[in-house]
Amino acid sequence: MCVVGSANIDLVVAVDHLPAPGETVLGGRFTIHEGGKGANQAVAAARAGARVSFVGAVGDDDYGRRSSRALAEEGVDLERLRTLDGEPTGIALIVVGPRGENQIAVAPGANHAWELDDHDRARIAAADVVLTTHEVPMSVVVETLAAAHARGIPAILNPAPARALPSEILRLGPILTPNEHELTVSIGNDDGATALEELASRHAGPIIVTQGAAGALLVADGREERFGGRAVPAPVDTTGAGDTFNGVLAAWLAEGTSLDDAIRAANVAASMSVIAAGARAGMPHRDAIDGELSV
Ligand code: RIB
Repeated sequence: MCVVGSANIDLVVAVDHLPAPGETVLGGRFTIHEGGKGANQAVAAARAGARVSFVGAVGDDDYGRRSSRALAEEGVDLERLRTLDGEPTGIALIVVGPRGENQIAVAPGANHAWELDDHDRARIAAADVVLTTHEVPMSVVVETLAAAHARGIPAILNPAPARALPSEILRLGPILTPNEHELTVSIGNDDGATALEELASRHAGPIIVTQGAAGALLVADGREERFGGRAVPAPVDTTGAGDTFNGVLAAWLAEGTSLDDAIRAANVAASMSVIAAGARAGMPHRDAIDGELSV
């Protein structure tokens, strides 16, 4: 499978409550982690047993080298990861609260300074599943989805961070995986219930709304089905839970499983991912996901 996405370094401060606008919260603990939605998804899929190639960009700096090294250690194919001169590696400033909730601000740097080339296109065309997000340029997202569509390859768009979805994406009909906030923004309707109806009436493919501990809601082919989540008594850090969901969903689909089975695995993996600090530390490996699914 192929992930076309972002790679960031996450600068994280864990505090006893999230700051309100204008508030300074003192007493936090600082850590640095590898992150970026695309790179996180690639790692989640690789740990779930998929062969993953990553298409993206980092800067020619220490953070870029740290980011690539971490992906390589997970067995992700980095032939299409470019290093850009004059652009810094993407940075996310993250504040994590006592129940694992977060606030994130991203400086995309290199992630927003590239376009697909013919080698990337060949890599996408050869994939069994393609996964992308809004942390790379919209032109890259559209071209990736169009290439997958032309080849009949299953494609997933995790529409995060939230932004309005252009009609060309709705026409291409990728599997969409918004959370509840992204759902309303993607269609420009603040009301969650009618936003889903409206998106479903305009989008040609399946929609999976991720709902954190509550699980996920699938709308596809006129069918609506709820997949229950697993409550985690004391989540440490929910950063990367959505990425785990998407990476595992893609990994399962790459094995030819049904969308329903892929959602079950993704739900379980996402709930397991929140038990450790940092986007990736809690992401489960395949045997752990299989173990949880068999309970
Ligand atoms: O989804 C979590 C990720 O969002 C973080 O790792 C951060 O880098 C931001 O991209």
